[in-house]
Amino acid sequence: MTTTAPRAATAACTRRLRDLVEEIRETVERGLPPELTAYLVGERLAPHLGADDLLTAEQCEGDPDHYRQHLLHAESDGSFSLVALVWLPGQRTSIHDHLSWCTTGVHLGEEGERRYRLISDGNTARLVATEDVVNRQGTVCGFAPPGDIHRVRNSGTGTAISLHVYGADLARLGSSIRRVYRLPADER
Ligand SMILES: [Fe+2]
Repeated sequence: MTTTAPRAATAACTRRLRDLVEEIRETVERGLPPELTAYLVGERLAPHLGADDLLTAEQCEGDPDHYRQHLLHAESDGSFSLVALVWLPGQRTSIHDHLSWCTTGVHLGEEGERRYRLISDGNTARLVATEDVVNRQGTVCGFAPPGDIHRVRNSGTGTAISLHVYGADLARLGSSIRRVYRLPADER
């Protein structure tokens, strides 16, 4: 994954993106539990998905080597960050989980998500695939750790773009990923 990182939503951002950041801020500032915050942020994110005035052309650029993360906004108090992930055909993440609550929304194309459960058996551990989900343009998901182990891929034939909101400061952390899992996985 490669990352581009303006600190905050400034000159390169569209008016719609600035509005979205303000809506997310209003929701996060309520100080609600993580799962509920993720859900309510999804309600604010959904109406903007697919709008052609949301992102600049630069924020839609991919990378032929990896899916690409554009940091769109990092709140100055570290309470949330907003990124656009751009996936060219065939690109995918590692199996991972997250540091914080997360809300995702598909802006363009479609993404496939495989969810896993971590099975611990004495001194050994393995992953078991539990669910496959296809998220098409306009779909939002909200979740909070623990139990959020998954892998995401571009499951369509063209470019896919999704917006992700995390309850973490990605300007400082770089990524919301808590852990990458390299355990044996039962893929069903
Ligand atoms: Fe993830």
